[in-house]
Amino acid sequence: MKQFLLRDTLIYLDDNSFNSINKWMSLNHFDNKFIIADENTSIHCLPVLLKHVPLLKDSFIIKMSSGESAKSIAQVEAICSCLINKNIDRQSLIVNLGGGVVCDLGGFVASIIKRGVKFINIPTTLMSQIDAAIGGKVAVNFQDYKNQIGLFVDPQIVFVYTPFLLSLSHDDLLSAQAEIFKYGLIYDRLLWEQCRLESSNKIMNFKNMISDCIKIKIKIVESDYYDYQGRRMLNFGHSICHAIESVFLSTKKQPVSHGFALSVGLICETYISYKKFKFSSKKLSIIVNTILSVFPKINLVKALDNLVLKYLKSDKKNKNRLYNFTLIKDIGVAVVNCSVSDIHIINSLDYYRKKCQT
Ligand SMILES: NC(=O)c1ccc[n+]([C@@H]2O[C@H](COP(=O)([O-])OP(=O)(O)OC[C@H]3O[C@@H](n4cnc5c(N)ncnc54)[C@H](O)[C@@H]3O)[C@@H](O)[C@H]2O)c1
Repeated sequence: MKQFLLRDTLIYLDDNSFNSINKWMSLNHFDNKFIIADENTSIHCLPVLLKHVPLLKDSFIIKMSSGESAKSIAQVEAICSCLINKNIDRQSLIVNLGGGVVCDLGGFVASIIKRGVKFINIPTTLMSQIDAAIGGKVAVNFQDYKNQIGLFVDPQIVFVYTPFLLSLSHDDLLSAQAEIFKYGLIYDRLLWEQCRLESSNKIMNFKNMISDCIKIKIKIVESDYYDYQGRRMLNFGHSICHAIESVFLSTKKQPVSHGFALSVGLICETYISYKKFKFSSKKLSIIVNTILSVFPKINLVKALDNLVLKYLKSDKKNKNRLYNFTLIKDIGVAVVNCSVSDIHIINSLDYYRKKCQT
């Protein structure tokens, strides 16, 4: 069992037992307990959790639909009305059992209902175990714009149990690898090299990397919890990623997963970095070819470029009408608060399309 601390939140990484969560539950009393699970985690993870954590057996289960479109104000309303009907009070506990969608949405609900009740995150996807469940950002999407309504609020504990990943689909495992690539590119050259070596395996041996990723996330978040400077490193690849997710949400095309959209964001923003910081074209090719060797190509039609720009314009970090991006000046070295223009973005999308044809 490994244990980490981020501000007041204890993060347990335990592949073998639920002892830490049992101990924490026995030290705390709650009037009511609610578990939020989605249609998949209620099948694959909830029975395991209830079997191993007896003090959660009397919880009321709230089952929500799965996927990005569930991260909505309508879903917040539905869950709040259920909690109120079941007499939630400020001495209650909410347990978020799921991936990034459940953790983001459940954390948001917990922080507003009755002006805030305690919550814990039990992340069940690789994406949420290495990233979304940790760091105190909770949010929902609004009018197809990603994460527009949200706040910073810490869970009581985060309990990471990697056997939950066994039931995850190939695409959901793959999706999280984009975040692992990102950690390497912004912060840890050795991690990047490890990803590169393993990229030929399609699904990497990520188990050894979970703890490294958690440690990187903690270090970065601790340096700048409210996201004005250093934490913005984590945004590398995400400006274009979020705009592409919004395009897919709004055009009601087949939804694109966060990780697949991030693979495009990483390529485009590496290209912009290359143009701005003039590192070698060999380095650009290594990064881009590694990412493309793992991720499927996303069909981004040129006619939707203006819609990408429209969504980018609402990015919370923009300043003086210029886009505020995080870029890299080398592998493992991020630069925050870089000004980027429309033309940089269009060129990077053209570059992505061209690379996909080769
Ligand atoms: N708050 C943050 O700091 C932060 C960071 C990164 C990503 N995010 C957010 O996280 C979300 C993406 O998270 P995600 O990739 O976990 O997606 P997700 O929560 O949609 O989960 C992906 C799919 O896996 C299913 N699933 C979950 N656990 C399972 C299991 N153990 N077995 C079988 N199926 C399972 C889900 O039902 C869903 O269908 C995005 O909304 C993104 O914006 C937030």
